[in-house]
Amino acid sequence: THEKLFRIASIPGDGIGTEVTEAAIQVLQKLAEVDGTFHFEFEHFDWSSKNFKERGYYIPPDGIDQLKKFNAILFGAVGSPDSNKGQTQAKATDTKRLPDVPDHISLWGLMLPLRNSLTQYVNVRPTRILRGTSSPLRAEVCGPKDLDWVIIRENSEGEYSGHGGTTHAASGNAVATEVSIFTQVGIERIMRFAFDTAMLRPRKKLTMVTKSNAQRHGMVLWDQIFHEVKKEYPDVETDKMLVDAMTVRMTLKPQTLDTIVATNLHADILSDLAAALSGSIGIAPSSNLDPTRKHPSMFEPIHGSAPDIAGQGIANPVGAFWSAAEMVRWLGLEEVADKLMECIENVTEAGPRTRDLGGSANTKEVTEAVCNEIEKQL
Ligand code: NAI
Ligand code: MG
Repeated sequence: THEKLFRIASIPGDGIGTEVTEAAIQVLQKLAEVDGTFHFEFEHFDWSSKNFKERGYYIPPDGIDQLKKFNAILFGAVGSPDSNKGQTQAKATDTKRLPDVPDHISLWGLMLPLRNSLTQYVNVRPTRILRGTSSPLRAEVCGPKDLDWVIIRENSEGEYSGHGGTTHAASGNAVATEVSIFTQVGIERIMRFAFDTAMLRPRKKLTMVTKSNAQRHGMVLWDQIFHEVKKEYPDVETDKMLVDAMTVRMTLKPQTLDTIVATNLHADILSDLAAALSGSIGIAPSSNLDPTRKHPSMFEPIHGSAPDIAGQGIANPVGAFWSAAEMVRWLGLEEVADKLMECIENVTEAGPRTRDLGGSANTKEVTEAVCNEIEKQL
């Protein structure tokens, strides 16, 4: 046949990551089935905290190479469901219970190596108020059209470079360093991506966030390179914010922002705020992109494994669906991606909705509703 085939690696991970990834795959399969011009072939990778506890690794030695042959990666979340529980909560009788995985081990064992070794140096985080949902901000401050942002997060260096160490712990005065790395190449490429993104948006407006008053080396380099790259984009309106003041502006004047570029740490924090301001962390998507397309890009909801609700089947799958739509767009199926978003928003508008959006539906009901919309709309 002349149908397009896309090979997708799925890494559901832990907790609700497995639940929402399964839901997203169901929606993607339905999309391919109803559209008929392309199809997906999924391969599943069981790289989870549970398996880490048994095997001692998340990613097997040839794991990254295995991923390189796929067109894209769908990721759920990583974070051992037990990682937030203190040792004392383990039952003394439970001799089979394996130790918990601390969050820095799981993040550095799975997600960060994927982003780094596949040179996914951009993390794109769009946020807007989906139809039928509302911001927790007062309507005068944030009506349905007042929050429509895309946050471009530097995804390969900065504060999450992993440089540093701990010494002198035995002396009773431990010394720990956490060194941020900012490179000219790294900053230039994220700036270009941010300007290119702004150019494609109706308002052509880019806000750059740093903390260059207090952090006088790496952040100042960010400022300088921003001003250099800006010269290549005369059509983009720009401004600059310090990250602390940015939280205030996002909360009080959301309509003044459009495209935002920030460092790994700053954008991580600001995008959780953005998700909360737009209604729920359960709806927010992200794309880890290798813009050179040498390696597959990876699509995941921004939320974590949500141990508090994992296993109950009540997680909101919309963040995973929106991420799946971004994957479809990255694969070149722009119109299909738009249609999928239309279907998702028909459901956020008419219901069923999960509890985080004020409803009472479970993951399965929302997933079935989106699949029904796909049958109706496509
Ligand atoms: P989280 O995002 O897992 O949960 C925060 C709160 O939001 C919880 O109350 C949770 O129930 C709720 N929530 C999150 N997603 C939801 C959804 N789809 N539907 C309904 N409610 C939802 O963040 P938290 O609690 O800080 O971290 C839990 C674990 O996840 C930790 O181990 C952490 O390291 C890991 N994590 C992993 C990430 C990833 O893999 N990309 C990102 C963030 C956290
Ligand atoms: Mg985060």
